[in-house]
Amino acid sequence: MKLLILDTPDEVTSWSAKYVVKRINEFKPGPGRYFVLGLPTGGTPLGMYRKLIELHKKGKVSFQYVATFNMDEYVDLPRDHCQSYHYFMFENFFKYIDINPKNVHILDGNAADLKLECSNYEEKIKEMGGIHLFIGGIGADGHIAFNEPGSSLVSRTRVKTLTDDTLEANARFFDNDITKVPREALTVGVGTVMDAREVMILITGPHKAFALYKAIEEGVNHMWTASAFQLHPNTLLVCDEDATMELRVKTVKYFKGLNHHKLIENDSNVSIRS
Ligand code: F6R
Repeated sequence: MKLLILDTPDEVTSWSAKYVVKRINEFKPGPGRYFVLGLPTGGTPLGMYRKLIELHKKGKVSFQYVATFNMDEYVDLPRDHCQSYHYFMFENFFKYIDINPKNVHILDGNAADLKLECSNYEEKIKEMGGIHLFIGGIGADGHIAFNEPGSSLVSRTRVKTLTDDTLEANARFFDNDITKVPREALTVGVGTVMDAREVMILITGPHKAFALYKAIEEGVNHMWTASAFQLHPNTLLVCDEDATMELRVKTVKYFKGLNHHKLIENDSNVSIRS
């Protein structure tokens, strides 16, 4: 597991966007050769999406041969509702880049058969050859996607009932009225994310510090589902200083010494200082 500690949330968004561009360009996508990205919604990746749009507009990256799979979607929320994850992704990212909407995959929380929708999603990921880079965010309770505490660490895409903590955290998007927050969601499983060739998780802010500590300094535990990535061969956590506040000084010093920010250096197309 790699942990990259940057000073501010802005640096996290900008570094992660450059990393995504580097990964896509290195892959050299083209007809019949799609780079497959897993994507999150939420506040943490918003800046990364903005930066990716900027880099796309500067001609540094094309999404023409990129396919995406989103992590999750609410159940029974109209697709055009301003809090649906369909709406979020198109309004904050897809409508500004050259991705073909047919290559965008987001779970349909209004499908007549939700179980079938979930198993079809897993099939579609397989048909695309699996996910190259799954980007995620974590909740303050350590959830990844909607894999709430207690979720199986080998879970697949399925319907989940949200915890009171998540309902409370998300009420801010529904007029601060918890009763308006959908109680169920479709979500990829921890196992679905674990199957990706590479996982990059973005973590910013002091409110995520305890979750980061549980994810990396304690054992693998289904009460902190993000801890499962200790068992993934290629996970990169990108966090800001505030998110490290519960880590041991020794851990922070060690990872800082590894200079993981260099992972985007030596790239003629996207320099770290651009
Ligand atoms: C997003 C998702 C969640 C969020 C997490 C953090 O699709 O499934 O895991 O990444 O809840 O959300 P923010 O970034 O809003 O703090």
